[in-house]
Amino acid sequence: MSILRVIAVTDFEPTQARMAFPCFDEPLFKANFSIKIRRESKHIALSNMPKVKTIELEGGLLEDHFEATVKMSTYLVAYIVCDFNSVSGTTSSGVKVSIYASPDKWNQTHYALDVSLKLFDFYENYFDINYPLPKLDLVAIPDFETGAMENWGLITYRETSLLFDPKTSSASDKLWVTKVIAHELAHQWFGNLVTMEWWNDIWLNEGFATYMELISINATYPELQFDDSFLNVCFEAIAKDSLNSSRPISNPAETPTQIQEMFDAVSYNKGACILNMLKDFLSEKKFQEGIIHYLRKFSYRNAKNDDLWGSLSNSCLEGDFTSDGFCYSNSKMTSNTVSFLGKNTEIKEMMTTWTLQKGIPLVVVKQEGRSLRLHQERFLKGVFREDPEWRALQERYLWHIPLTYSMNSSNAIHRHILKSKTDTLELPEKTNWLKFNVDSNGYYIVHYEGHGWDHLISQLNQNHTFLRPKDRIGLIHDVFQLVSAGILTLDKALELTRYLPRETNYPALLKGLGHLELFYHMMYRRNISDVTENLKHYLLRYFKPMIDKQSWSDQGSIWDKLLRSALLKLACDLNHPPCIQKAAELFSQWKESSGKLNIPTDVLKIVYSVGAQTTGGWNYLLEQYGQSVSGAEKNKILYALSTSKHQEKLAKLIKLGMEGKVIKTQDFAALLHAIARNPMGQHLAWNFVRENWTYLLKKFDLGSFVMRMIISGTTSHFSSKDELQEVKLFFESLKAQGSHLDIFQIVLETITNNIKWLEKNLNTLRSWLLVNI
Ligand code: BES
Ligand code: ZN
Repeated sequence: MSILRVIAVTDFEPTQARMAFPCFDEPLFKANFSIKIRRESKHIALSNMPKVKTIELEGGLLEDHFEATVKMSTYLVAYIVCDFNSVSGTTSSGVKVSIYASPDKWNQTHYALDVSLKLFDFYENYFDINYPLPKLDLVAIPDFETGAMENWGLITYRETSLLFDPKTSSASDKLWVTKVIAHELAHQWFGNLVTMEWWNDIWLNEGFATYMELISINATYPELQFDDSFLNVCFEAIAKDSLNSSRPISNPAETPTQIQEMFDAVSYNKGACILNMLKDFLSEKKFQEGIIHYLRKFSYRNAKNDDLWGSLSNSCLEGDFTSDGFCYSNSKMTSNTVSFLGKNTEIKEMMTTWTLQKGIPLVVVKQEGRSLRLHQERFLKGVFREDPEWRALQERYLWHIPLTYSMNSSNAIHRHILKSKTDTLELPEKTNWLKFNVDSNGYYIVHYEGHGWDHLISQLNQNHTFLRPKDRIGLIHDVFQLVSAGILTLDKALELTRYLPRETNYPALLKGLGHLELFYHMMYRRNISDVTENLKHYLLRYFKPMIDKQSWSDQGSIWDKLLRSALLKLACDLNHPPCIQKAAELFSQWKESSGKLNIPTDVLKIVYSVGAQTTGGWNYLLEQYGQSVSGAEKNKILYALSTSKHQEKLAKLIKLGMEGKVIKTQDFAALLHAIARNPMGQHLAWNFVRENWTYLLKKFDLGSFVMRMIISGTTSHFSSKDELQEVKLFFESLKAQGSHLDIFQIVLETITNNIKWLEKNLNTLRSWLLVNI
């Protein structure tokens, strides 16, 4: 028998505090908050600060009084009434950290406690500023709209962003939990202690927190090799920023809808990537000194972009001794170091080209003997140089690009700032090939004119290890971007991937495979059966030795595991018989054991997905879904259920999602997205959104993460003119009702690009496969 238990939780960012209490609900109005909460004795109450006393009221209710907060913005206020249990520990500086979860999930809280204690110590050291509150609670909320929220001292999480269950959580689940904890802890400084003046600069919160994930996880959990995952953060940014419908990092935002729309890949991902580029330019140490300076100077206050650039240009702390433009510091970070003061304008000048302009530059390199001709332009996907609109879209774009490059003749890293449209460099020596953007730290795409790409491709074929792993990843990324922009033909990019079966670096291998897989899904979805079949044969033939090497286990390093999940998923998606057999066998053993058998977590989703293809298996999975207490397992089951080929089953899932009981409201957007990815479900999901728009708007805010995910998740894979027309008409009808979102334009441009890509590349792909299969 199930018992209904009730909890109350707040979630204010960006503009919801005003719905809970009267306030000047803008980030610039910081105040001290004194909070009292009345509750029943079967519950506990939590808020930003520790409880100081409880008073018993007439009638049996209890009233908890919390310590007054430090000066803070309204959007960070939070309180919870619940019946959760917790585990606690103490940081090196004596702060009590607790992880709360509903009682049946208490045993999944331990990983989060380890991670948060470790990261907490890291941040206090790195920022050289102690966390100012006496306690920090991290709470797993059973139905939570976003991934997590950084309320000061009381961080709220979705269960899958905080809880770790060794039996069902995979390597990528572990990465996610670690990442979200690192992100929200970073906000306790970036965002909570120092807050942006206004929402137009939300990237100062979100870009920084995303960047700090990289710094903190690399330092505390090197075995997670997080810097390899970080490259994808930048690639995601580039995917959005190479559309004309992108926006600058700092962007005017006035209405609550516009403010919510600021929480996107530009603020998060591009923000993090340009910070990473700046760190690479300034050096790690200088960068750290600068942000310590910034955090100290603006503590309990607000800041804007220029304040950050000022602090990064001049790492003198207040109270430091300055003389002749040099800064002599007594602080921990800068002790015994001197730093030059005069670079202020240069950094600001450089960085505003990245924050106030939208888009990403393309650097075109041409080698002529020992001379290098450089040229920069705006990189645009889907608009070709020969198109009439190209020229107008290029006007007035110019970046200050901190270039790096290496040559085959030495290991040295060379640097040059490209500030003009064109430039010429003299190479120190003759070289066979050149590779720009060392380790992919820069936010730009590179095209090598003349024979540049050919030299790189033949180096990859002869001995790919001459190029650094992240440079190989960067080359794979850029070559396919250049195809989308009509600068290279698809066969050149495919030729570059020919070395992949010998690739020993798993992130690079996965990057290359990812592109090929994407083409496969596009062909399959559009029913282009000859190319679908040939791509399938190609993939299975060239990657078979690697697929066959994978064990159905949880052994190895993080990337061993991620590769295993990806390769076996690919093999089963392609109906590779040994894969399907093994998965089906594990599934029936699991079913026979009544769900008690432990399947290796990294192959769990694959096993469930193969199991979901029979009606018996599908029904059994749905039953298990209702019973599981692991969010990690439930996500895997829900994904598996969404891969069914039966429309009536998919429709049933949507119905359960609308009810919000078995399938919670928090999972509805991901469910629709998953169904839309399934070729058998794509029109079901899309029609659902069109027919139930008003219902969706009652459940979710127009500009919210969720709503945008529902819109783009159910449309942006379309690649035909008819589909484009349908989507266009729908968006126009919404606009006529007064709903307008930036994502509409992004989706329309994406579909248009898909159509163009097919027009331009389908035949090349078809004939390349015929020759290479
Ligand atoms: N501050 C955000 C939560 C948020 C998101 C509030 C959107 C308002 C609108 C939080 O720090 C955050 O970024 N959460 C992410 C997870 C993070 C690890 C990327 C999320 O919710 O997806
Ligand atoms: Zn955040």
